[in-house]
Amino acid sequence: MTIFERALEFVTDGMTLGLGTGRAAERFLELLGSRIRDGLRVRGVATSQASAALAAHFGIPLVTLEEGLPLDLTVDGADEVDPQLNVIKGYGRALVREKIVAAASKRLVLLVGAEKLVPTIGSRGKLPVEVVPFASPFCLQEFKRLGIPGVLYTVDGRVHLSDNGNHIIDCQIGPTADPAALELAIHRVPGVVDTGLFLNRADTVLVGAAETFELQQELHRPTAAN
Ligand code: A5P
Repeated sequence: MTIFERALEFVTDGMTLGLGTGRAAERFLELLGSRIRDGLRVRGVATSQASAALAAHFGIPLVTLEEGLPLDLTVDGADEVDPQLNVIKGYGRALVREKIVAAASKRLVLLVGAEKLVPTIGSRGKLPVEVVPFASPFCLQEFKRLGIPGVLYTVDGRVHLSDNGNHIIDCQIGPTADPAALELAIHRVPGVVDTGLFLNRADTVLVGAAETFELQQELHRPTAAN
């Protein structure tokens, strides 16, 4: 069984789903679309313009966040996952809407290849942060002061605008023992919209083998009881 097939087992008839962004999310959307053609009734809230376009392509009915609240389940990809299920997302630059949709969902299931598992969050070296364009120079200065120097994300030499019309700064980070403190420090900088740190958010992470995405591991967020 692939991680995409396993994720589909969390979906039941009548659910409203958060639809993630990126390659893993796209594979899930494709499978979801085929189940909808077989009669499954669900609707989705997209986390990006790209995922909205894919959902339309695969025949997944879309609703606005307002129409969809509360969401039953979001299925998305991720860029880093540590053993506590601290997560970094946003290498695909859709982090703000992804975080809103995840927070609005009763359950968050993430789909990753084994290469995304890290011993300590930050190990892959990058944390995307979305900032208001006016604040970009100031945020760059402040991130440097915080020890996480950043660069503005560009495409073909032009500063990229997120779906929200904002800039993305890719901050250079390392393995981070206290990601909550880092999140707080970044949020204290005026102009910051949000970061790619998803802490205490993911309920389940489905880990697939490289290339085939055959389900290798299923990780669950530790609860207060365990
Ligand atoms: C989009 O902004 C990201 O958070 C993606 O979910 C993340 O980058 C994982 O993408 P892939 O599945 O393409 O690796």
